[in-house]
Amino acid sequence: VTGWKQIREQFPALSSWTYLNTATYGQMPRRATDAVIQHFADRDQRACSDFLSWFDDADRLRATIARLIQATADDIAFIPNAAHALSILLTGLDWRTGDQIITFDDEFPNNLYAPCFTKGVDLVPTTWDRFESAITPRTRLVIVSMLNYSTGFRPPLEELSTLLRSRGILLYVDGTQGVGALRFDTAKIRPAMLAVHGYKWLLSPTGAGFLYVDPELRARLDPTVVGWRSDKNWRCFDHLQHGKPEFAESAEKYEAGMIPHALLYGMEQSVNMMLEIGPERIEGRVLALAEGVRDIVTELGGTIEHGNSPIVAARFENQDSSALSRALQANNVVVAARHGKLRVSTHFYNDESDLGKLRDVLKSQMARPVHS
Ligand SMILES: Cc1ncc(COP(=O)(O)O)c(C=O)c1O
Repeated sequence: VTGWKQIREQFPALSSWTYLNTATYGQMPRRATDAVIQHFADRDQRACSDFLSWFDDADRLRATIARLIQATADDIAFIPNAAHALSILLTGLDWRTGDQIITFDDEFPNNLYAPCFTKGVDLVPTTWDRFESAITPRTRLVIVSMLNYSTGFRPPLEELSTLLRSRGILLYVDGTQGVGALRFDTAKIRPAMLAVHGYKWLLSPTGAGFLYVDPELRARLDPTVVGWRSDKNWRCFDHLQHGKPEFAESAEKYEAGMIPHALLYGMEQSVNMMLEIGPERIEGRVLALAEGVRDIVTELGGTIEHGNSPIVAARFENQDSSALSRALQANNVVVAARHGKLRVSTHFYNDESDLGKLRDVLKSQMARPVHS
């Protein structure tokens, strides 16, 4: 890993696409794909006889992820997706009738859907402006994304967390949009939980995700999906405990069963790459590229609500954003359309040539309004 040009060359997809849609899927570096393939080759070589060492490798990845977010390896559990993580929290807490969960009207559907099925609990969707007045003595949990998936809004998590801690309210952060692009310091933000599905900004295979669980919460949150790995002595394969399992103190207790080793080997390479480049350097580049995107869309007549975010959501008068997104893709430029806005999301592997192509193609489309 050296300059940005060499880093970009690690991503095969970028040689044939102007890819500006990491908020949907991140591209995987070659070293991550290679690691997944290598795992399958190793299986054939060793007939899976060394499978216990795969768990040692997964523990190494826990420590690597912990380094990325200023946590410890014991705080990290692997999860198949972000929905699963929120379910662990919502089904594991001891709710009292009338308890309230606050989230935001425009949150990612996961965060609005799951609380609807938490018995006896009132879901209070609100806006950022009305947030403080939505808090009541019955509020027990706030659910928020690190970056809003459709507007790019980046809530001030540290301030939010301080406010909630002072009132004894839990904070669940969905970092699927953001972790890998922007720094997330769990030691400073101190969420009760942080869930990250790695297939976007963490440039990992779908199905490779992690959950950070604060030690205080772990002490009182029992797993609700329970299986053979829920017993703390699950490594004693020759004599698995029969009877009621004893949970470990570490977050691994939330995993319950097997983990997707092949995918995690891929994730490990992507996270290592980020640590090698440096999270601060990545954040600086991501925000600078996003600034470049904002300049282009405003120059072409688009309006943007939120700045300082790797997700740029632009509204164009008299343009159907879905048709516009399709027209761009027909020209090899991949973006997305979300709720009437064109969503452009850049990661560290993008460069000026991508922004130039975006400007050219977008400009040619602006010349003729498109409708669905
Ligand atoms: C904020 C956020 N969380 C989670 C996801 C994906 O959810 P899951 O991991 O449950 O598939 C997305 C996908 O767009 C998202 O934007």
